[in-house]
Amino acid sequence: METLFVTDWTRLFSPRMAHVRASEIRELLKLLDQPDIISFAGGIPDPALFPLDRVQAAYAQALADNGQAALQYSVSEGLPALRGWIAARMTAAGAPCGIDNILITAGSQQALDLIGKLFLAPGDTVLVERPTYMGALGAFNAYEPRYAALDLGAAAPSGARLAYVVPDFANPSGRTWPRREREALLERAEDGDLVIVEDGAYRELGFGGAAEPALIALDVARSGGIEAARTLYCGTFSKTLSPALRLGWVCGPRAVIDRLVLLKQGGDLHASTINQMVAAQVVSEGYEAHLEQLRSAYRAKSEAMQAALARHMPLGVSWSRPQGGMFVWVSLPEGFDGAQLLEACLAEERVAFVPGAPFYAVEPDRASLRLSYSLPSAEDIDEGIRRLGRAIAARMGGAVMAKAG
Ligand SMILES: Cc1ncc(COP(=O)(O)O)c(C=O)c1O
Repeated sequence: METLFVTDWTRLFSPRMAHVRASEIRELLKLLDQPDIISFAGGIPDPALFPLDRVQAAYAQALADNGQAALQYSVSEGLPALRGWIAARMTAAGAPCGIDNILITAGSQQALDLIGKLFLAPGDTVLVERPTYMGALGAFNAYEPRYAALDLGAAAPSGARLAYVVPDFANPSGRTWPRREREALLERAEDGDLVIVEDGAYRELGFGGAAEPALIALDVARSGGIEAARTLYCGTFSKTLSPALRLGWVCGPRAVIDRLVLLKQGGDLHASTINQMVAAQVVSEGYEAHLEQLRSAYRAKSEAMQAALARHMPLGVSWSRPQGGMFVWVSLPEGFDGAQLLEACLAEERVAFVPGAPFYAVEPDRASLRLSYSLPSAEDIDEGIRRLGRAIAARMGGAVMAKAG
């Protein structure tokens, strides 16, 4: 047989690849397609809520009215019609701005990558919540940062350049920052000369009740205007229209947006022209009613999960009570390991979730896990949480009795 000499590619990769790693849990999560598994792992939008008819009509209209432009290259900053709509929405949310303050990106994920590229040099410190969105770590890692836990009670450590936060209905914690924490972060950022990256991925999915002001709105109010702000707001249509459109945006001072446009150009030239036309059309009418539908559907699922947790979790387990979004964060008794529990749950109970540890950039808390209620039905939520509760109770020993009911 011929000998095959395989090149040692790792020798040739750039040093930055030492920071880029596949997630350990990815292999386990590949098993989730099996039909008898009830999965709380996904964290993706419920496809039944996609505005399919309106997207279909908008594609037809874009091709019929302006087909040649729809299929053509377009400007890197994004189509003026869509940027204009976003600028008006950011203005209404308390951050008065114009279209030059908006860059359209390929989802908010690309916004995080471009922001990393613009601001981070190897060894710079990024301040993150514990836990944080692991996709943001994936975006920043290629720029070789260090991470430190964001501490609102202390001055930012030296070398800190950027604070990344998900202040509304967070992935993964489900938590929403109260106003005083938002104000405190702005103060810390001013003192430490930090860039604030506000990830608003779930901001539109509040279940009702008073929304907290966006960080960028508080920043604009303090600093006197968008051009003096140090917050970059990352928005997305992934959770409200469809993630497959791959459309998100950054809102921030022109000096930053101008540089991000150059990086966007170098990366992929521009976001899909036809998808931008479709999004601009779909949001132009009936968008508020559509959002209300999403909010009430996710609220119902969230309530089903809260009820199931109360019914089936053993004493000693606690969980977050999100006021929006798609996630509940569960804290297990000391000594539990979410990854081991997942393995056991897949094998014995056919129920899945994401273990908590990968959501930590520093000091992982292994006795935690993330549940998403976006996909399963209310019945499956109850049954899945019953199985999860049983698996946890079985590992708690006789000392802690499972709650009756
Ligand atoms: C907090 C957060 N930010 C950003 C993203 C990226 O989404 P997209 O690139 O589709 O806008 C996600 C996706 O799950 C998310 O949960």
